[in-house]
Amino acid sequence: MKPGAVATGEAAVQAGVAAISVSKVAKTFDTRQGVRALEQVDFSVPRGEFVSILGPSGCGKSTLLRIVAGLIQPDAGGDVRVLDHSQTRMSDDVGVVFQTHNMLPWETVEANIRLAAEVRKLPRKDIDERVEALLPILKLEKFRRNYPHELSGGMRQRAALGQILVMRPKVLLLDEPFGALDALTRDQLNVELLRLWQEMRQTVILITHSISEAVFLSDRVLVMSERPGRVIEDIRIDLPRPRDPRTTKEAAAFGHYVVQLGHLMGVD
Ligand SMILES: Nc1ncnc2c1ncn2[C@@H]1O[C@H](COP(=O)(O)OP(=O)(O)OP(=O)(O)O)[C@@H](O)[C@H]1O
Ligand SMILES: [Mg+2]
Repeated sequence: MKPGAVATGEAAVQAGVAAISVSKVAKTFDTRQGVRALEQVDFSVPRGEFVSILGPSGCGKSTLLRIVAGLIQPDAGGDVRVLDHSQTRMSDDVGVVFQTHNMLPWETVEANIRLAAEVRKLPRKDIDERVEALLPILKLEKFRRNYPHELSGGMRQRAALGQILVMRPKVLLLDEPFGALDALTRDQLNVELLRLWQEMRQTVILITHSISEAVFLSDRVLVMSERPGRVIEDIRIDLPRPRDPRTTKEAAAFGHYVVQLGHLMGVD
């Protein structure tokens, strides 16, 4: 096994360490041309680990995340296990944030954040407590009664994260949640996401196109090939935690990881 790689598939789940285990996952979309999006994807993520996935556009990253989330099924022969369950449908333990946000425009920020918990009929007191705890973490207290169109892009993405965190998922699947934001807002949200994760220690898979975002946040970075996507590299990011934008990004090792991943992605 390569350095940094961990046991995959059934072995990792049986060892009780893997929160997510993906083995032999392939996906062909049954369109007229028959698009082969993924081929032989194998990896696992131990509980509480933060893993990012980098790969060229169209290589199957969102498809892979949707399969892990139980939103679509892999081709026969592939297996996905999440928190020891075969992942054939969506679960409240798994929160997914997509490339574009999913808020109801006619509801306030607070109502949007409450929504999932209300749909699941959680007790009102619990929902109140969760929302009161979340709003300051997301820095949205002053905007709780505003509507989505009255927010900045960064606030909207924070609210979208709140819509998921209200269910207290053990696994967070993030598909370029900050992709549409300017660099500064994105850096700020990275710091907030890191703070959140340091408090709650969910198992995270983050899809991103930003090499520095992946290095700054992650314990491991997986690199995917061109379509049909496979995991071609699994790099452990051995930077000390807690991480801080100033000290972490100035460390020589941070720069080395960025250069190494840049080579692998062919962007230098
Ligand atoms: N529902 C679908 N039906 C048919 N083809 C699909 C479907 N979803 C994705 N594809 C195809 O699968 C391939 C991978 O798409 P996917 O969205 O997973 O890529 P991606 O790596 O997330 O790209 P990006 O970085 O641009 O978001 C593409 O060729 C796409 O056209
Ligand atoms: Mg995508």
